[in-house]
Amino acid sequence: MRNHFVKNNAEILAASSYVIQDPSALRGHYRDRLGAARLNLEIGTGKGRFLTDAARSFPSEGWIGLERIGSVLCKAAGALDKLRPEAALHNICLIRSEAESLPDYFAPGEIDALYLNFSDPWPKAKHAKRRLTSGRFLSIYQKILAPGAILYLKTDSDILFASSLEELPAHGWTILAQEEDYYPDTGDTSAQAIPTEYETQFRKEGRRIHMLRAQVPAGAPLPDPDNGSVPLPLKGASHA
Ligand SMILES: C[S@@+](CC[C@H](N)C(=O)[O-])C[C@H]1O[C@@H](n2cnc3c(N)ncnc32)[C@H](O)[C@@H]1O
Repeated sequence: MRNHFVKNNAEILAASSYVIQDPSALRGHYRDRLGAARLNLEIGTGKGRFLTDAARSFPSEGWIGLERIGSVLCKAAGALDKLRPEAALHNICLIRSEAESLPDYFAPGEIDALYLNFSDPWPKAKHAKRRLTSGRFLSIYQKILAPGAILYLKTDSDILFASSLEELPAHGWTILAQEEDYYPDTGDTSAQAIPTEYETQFRKEGRRIHMLRAQVPAGAPLPDPDNGSVPLPLKGASHA
């Protein structure tokens, strides 16, 4: 899917009430901001379809979308800004940034679940460290994830799926579920069952969708080197 450059994307993002302009300033306060005891983060949220549908389906939870490309994220922001006042969503926010910066934005233990939906696969071996399930990124996630948090991954890439199944256990994560050919059944009430924009396209093309769920190693969140702060208390979090 091609993404077109949107000339005024910075202005759209700056004007949107759904976009967090200074994500570091809210560090440790996202639960209050979204009025939710439990926070979900999607890295690479794209045009925000999954995030918006998840925020509607799970209104008591908070939904945060991180996306590094402004021309893409402004589509998500624009669609949210167009909602009629009575349909506005108060449990969702968007951040334009890179996954590498997550510990600057979130306190240890602030995030309860992480979604990686159709992340860039980086199929060449020489780019393996750029994959969002490489060891480099897993240790970043451990700094912000609550004890027991779950990473939910969906991908059409055989290479990303196979390398994730190697990297996660190698870094102490527990694989809770994995499916080569994932089709949510009617009993699957998890947010992972919600289709993403890329997923809808790939299913039309007949591609197989792989999924896995993995639990963060015991000992997360890792200590915060900046202030040695203690993990935030979990308010009624459940990881089903
Ligand atoms: C293939 S798209 C998938 C979009 C959406 N999740 C979906 O399933 O429809 C991957 C998105 O992840 C974003 N992305 C990739 N690496 C990222 C990173 N390190 N930090 C933030 N966003 C990233 C890309 O810009 C792109 O918009």
